[in-house]
Amino acid sequence: MIRANDNYSKLKASYLFSDIAKRVNDYQKKNPDADIIRLGIGDVTCALAPAIIKGFHQGVEEMALDKSFRGYGPEQGYEFLRQAIAKNDFQDKGCDVAADEIFVSDGAKCDCGNFQELFAGDIKIAIPDPVYPVYLDTNVMAGRTGKNVDGRYEGIVYLDCEKQNNFLPQLPKEPVDLIYLCFPNNPTGSTATKQDLKVWVDYARENKALILFDAAYEAFIREDELPRSIYEIEGARQVAVEFRSFSKTAGFTGTRCGFTVVPKDCMIYDSTGAKVSLHAMWNRRHTTKFNGVSYPVQKAAEAVYSPEGKKQVAEQIAYYLNNADVIRKTVADLGFDYVGGKNAPYIWIDGKGRDSWEFFDLLLTKASVVCTPGGGFGRCGNSYIRISAFNSLEKVETAMERLKKALK
Ligand code: MLT
Repeated sequence: MIRANDNYSKLKASYLFSDIAKRVNDYQKKNPDADIIRLGIGDVTCALAPAIIKGFHQGVEEMALDKSFRGYGPEQGYEFLRQAIAKNDFQDKGCDVAADEIFVSDGAKCDCGNFQELFAGDIKIAIPDPVYPVYLDTNVMAGRTGKNVDGRYEGIVYLDCEKQNNFLPQLPKEPVDLIYLCFPNNPTGSTATKQDLKVWVDYARENKALILFDAAYEAFIREDELPRSIYEIEGARQVAVEFRSFSKTAGFTGTRCGFTVVPKDCMIYDSTGAKVSLHAMWNRRHTTKFNGVSYPVQKAAEAVYSPEGKKQVAEQIAYYLNNADVIRKTVADLGFDYVGGKNAPYIWIDGKGRDSWEFFDLLLTKASVVCTPGGGFGRCGNSYIRISAFNSLEKVETAMERLKKALK
C-alpha cells in the first residue's frame, strides 16, 4: 500500500494565493461584469524592460544556430551571470560575495522552500508572524511541526511582529537553530536597520544557528542607510544564506529567475557536532535535483546589470513605488494605520478590528478590488490586509477611488 506523507494533512487545504485566486474567480463568474482590480498577489504588470528583452532575444538567436546552441548548462548558473550578480549586487556595494557562492535558480520561492531539506528533522525553527507562507508550509510538509492548533503549528517558535515592536521580530525566549527573516518584509513592508540585523547575526553566531534571509524586495529600498543584503553585517558570512529574485526587481515573475547566496564560510553541524559546509551540501542538492535555468533566461537576467538595464529597471521600481505612495496617501486619508509602502511594494493596513477575510470580502464585493487578507500570513495578521503596489498607476488610482467610496 502506497502511503501518503501525513504531514500534508496538517496544512490548510490550499496555498494562500491559490485560495484567493479561486475566491476571486468564483466572484468573477457570479459577477461577469465586475471590473476586478488585482492588488493581491505581488505580481508585476510592467513588460520586461527593452534591455532585458534584447538580452533574451540574443539568447534565443544563439539557440537557433548549431555553432552557438547550448544544451545542459552548469546547474549553478552560467559564469557570465554569476559574475554579474557578484559584482553588481554585492562586491560593488562592499559585500564579500564571490561568483562561486551564487546559485542561480528558477526563483526565490523554490529556493526558500527547498533549502529546509538540508537540515535535520528535529531542529527548532523561528518564524515571524505574519510571514510569507512558503517558509512555514514547507517545514510542515517536511514534518518539523506538530498539528495546527488555533492557527499555529506546534513546535514552531513564532516571532510576533506587531505595532508595539514596529513589526520587527524580536529575539526568541527559547533557543532556536534556524531563523527566517525577510526585509524589506513581505507582507508588512517593514524594514530593518543594520543594527536590527546585527542583533540577529550576533545571536546566530553565539548559538550556532543559521539565518535564512529573504531579500527578494531589496530593490525597493529608497532610504540609502537601510541594508540591502545581510552581508552588509559583519560576521553574516558565517551564519546567513540570502535569497534573491529577479521577479519583483526586474519583472521576472513569469520568466523565472532568482538566486541564492551560500557563502563558503557558512557551516552547520552533523550529529557528532562536526562542522559541515552548507555550500557543499546545497551544491550537492542543486546539482542532483536541478538542471539549471534556460540559457535565454540567464541572458535576460544578465542584461538587468547592463547600464541600460539598470536604468530601465530602476524606472520600473520607481513606478511601482509611486503607486505605493498613492495607496499610502489614500489609506491615511481614510484614517487607517498602516506600515510599509515606503521601501517596499506592500502596504500593511490595520483594519480597525475588522477580520481580515471579512475586509477582503468587503473590498471584493463593494469595490471589486483584490487585496490579501492578513490572516493568510499568520495569526498576527488577523485584523490586517495587505495591498500590493504592482499594477498600472491608472488601475491603482481607480482602485483607490473605489476604496474611498466603499469605506467612507
Ligand atoms: C506575494 O504576493 O506575497 C508574492 O508574490 C508571492 C511570491 O513571491 O511567491
